[in-house]
Amino acid sequence: TGNVTYDPGFVNTAATSSAITFIDGDKGILRYRGYPIEELAEHSSFLEVSYLLIYGNLPTPAELDAFDQRIRRHTMLNEDLKGFFNGFPRDAHPMPVLSSAVSALSTFYQDSLDPFDDEQVEMATIRLMAKMPVIAAYAHKKSIGQPMLYPDNSMNLVENYLRLCFGVPTEHYEMDPVVVKALDLLLILHADHEQNCSTSTVRMVGSANANMFASVSAGINALFGPLHGGANEAVLNMLRQIQESGEPVEKFVERVKNKEDGVKLMGFGHRVYKNYDPRAKIVKATAHEILEKLGGNDELLEIAMRLEEVALTDEYFVSRKLYPNVDFYTGLIYKAMGFPEKMFTVLFAIGRLPGWIAQWREMMKDPETKIGRPRQLYTGEPERMYPSR
Ligand code: CMC
Repeated sequence: TGNVTYDPGFVNTAATSSAITFIDGDKGILRYRGYPIEELAEHSSFLEVSYLLIYGNLPTPAELDAFDQRIRRHTMLNEDLKGFFNGFPRDAHPMPVLSSAVSALSTFYQDSLDPFDDEQVEMATIRLMAKMPVIAAYAHKKSIGQPMLYPDNSMNLVENYLRLCFGVPTEHYEMDPVVVKALDLLLILHADHEQNCSTSTVRMVGSANANMFASVSAGINALFGPLHGGANEAVLNMLRQIQESGEPVEKFVERVKNKEDGVKLMGFGHRVYKNYDPRAKIVKATAHEILEKLGGNDELLEIAMRLEEVALTDEYFVSRKLYPNVDFYTGLIYKAMGFPEKMFTVLFAIGRLPGWIAQWREMMKDPETKIGRPRQLYTGEPERMYPSR
């Protein structure tokens, strides 16, 4: 096979160069376009961070306003697209509904499919940023049998999303500023994470010159996996199972260590961070404050904190450098905000969208881009003669 390097899971292989996100996994550092995540979390907004990731620099107030206005103008879904939501079973998980509808956007917006036409790329960017939260909210409304509201463009992206998820046509939706701020923060923390599984998927699909909607739809499907974005939902299931069974946390950790039935401590471990995930640090610090204000489930938070305490002093986790990742505490906050568990990974997808778009756009402009095409080590039969019959 010549000069082929064998690296399952791309543990040591850089598939691209990128100027978007910097991670130092040993030191627990994360920066978007050079800005530390801690500072962005404290001072910025999800919209501003989206602009930063996609266009490379922080916007001026006028640039941010123009970006915001453009997104607001494009929130409406084509009425025919809304018919899609009736085609899925009532108990459908919103992630495959989201990826299907995002894929379908390429049939409705055929004027924004060319990856090498700057204006079309810009339209696809704005349309995805504007419409994906609306699609996600509709998937939720459908699953609970409530009518879908039209977006209200007097609101920004995050406010609009909350109203579409929780508002009903018969009542005025009272926006809770605590929820708006907390959701905005969580979206910032998820906005990019360099070449993770879903982003690499977006790049891989895009490397064949597939359009942005198709590439992002593929990314959503990758994110759905429980080892990736699906972990936030899996963490809550794990915490609730521990709560309901009354199993002592120490015993559960023992089962994880013994790899009993392949059980893992969900929300722990990371391919790149061999230190505390800086995003998890921020989420943990705010979880208490937010849960206090929103009246979250204290018992589940206590189980989570106890799990962390036990794991961080246990040889198994210490020697493997396993720390809580971003997904460990987020589910508790989403739950306190009123989101059903099925929506947790959808929230991750909305947060990660500007990162996917930024990476896709960077790749399309990169003269070194080639179609993604890994090699293999063939382990099958040597040449065999077809039997004569
Ligand atoms: N619980 C128990 N053991 C673990 C865990 C865990 N959560 N994570 C890793 N290990 C063990 C693993 O079994 C292996 O042990 P050994 O050396 O005895 O075989 C060792 O630690 C190294 O792990 P790995 O699986 O080789 O590491 P990886 O880089 O391939 O996997 C991971 C990274 C995130 C998939 C993995 O840590 C995991 O499955 N975590 C739980 C799921 C999770 O929380 N995912 C969210 C990741 S962060 C946000 C996101 O990307 O969505």
